[in-house]
Amino acid sequence: MRKVIIAGNWKMFKTQSETIEFLQGFLPQLDTTPDDRDIVLCAPFTDLGTLSRNLHGSRIQIGAQNVHWAESGAFTGEISTAMLVELSVRYVIIGHSERRQFFGETDETVNQRLKAAQKAGLIPILCVGESKQQRDAGETESVIFQQLEKGLVGIDQQNLVIAYEPIWAIGTGDTCASDEANRVIGLIRKQLSNPNITIQYGGSVKPDNIDEIMMQPEIDGALVGGASLNPQDFAKLVNYGKI
Ligand code: PGA
Repeated sequence: MRKVIIAGNWKMFKTQSETIEFLQGFLPQLDTTPDDRDIVLCAPFTDLGTLSRNLHGSRIQIGAQNVHWAESGAFTGEISTAMLVELSVRYVIIGHSERRQFFGETDETVNQRLKAAQKAGLIPILCVGESKQQRDAGETESVIFQQLEKGLVGIDQQNLVIAYEPIWAIGTGDTCASDEANRVIGLIRKQLSNPNITIQYGGSVKPDNIDEIMMQPEIDGALVGGASLNPQDFAKLVNYGKI
């Protein structure tokens, strides 16, 4: 059975006090959440301590949004695996398209970060996906297959989550049709040596489309940006399918 994971990606949003406010609104809405799904919050580094202090005994797991490959060193602005592990971080997003686009992340650096994360016992959420231009040029499959091939060199596929995030669907309200997301995720699965990896969909997931997305047989969860910032909306997402 593949694990279902609904993960929030807060990006560069929320101070520590806003994090506490979020939890006050969100936690009470988890009382009847079915336990067939894992809930993860991938927060800015400055919020991780706040989450770890306030989530003891809760079912929410903590995630970060990046990690460096070196154990320590002169890497101004980066964060190490040990720094995350000490704050009870369990998951880490790696290779998000915003990092590839704005911060020079390449398949090679993604691969190094994935290796370091796994070595430290963190579960990486590897993001892959094509731009609008690449989709229009019929390159969706080749772009994603290359990201997988280069990113996954030497990576243990037992300890990994993949998020398919078409770049044109991120933050645009332009969700990829759920059957198309299902098709691409099915193709991704065929590229893997472990077909039981959890593969999420990400890109404008909202309370009004989560049920349809989660009904797709290949889709094992969602990586959610905008709609994870509001406790009511994120609660509706993690409670998908509940009547
Ligand atoms: P979005 O972002 O839900 O706001 O489209 C998704 C993501 O970037 O992970």
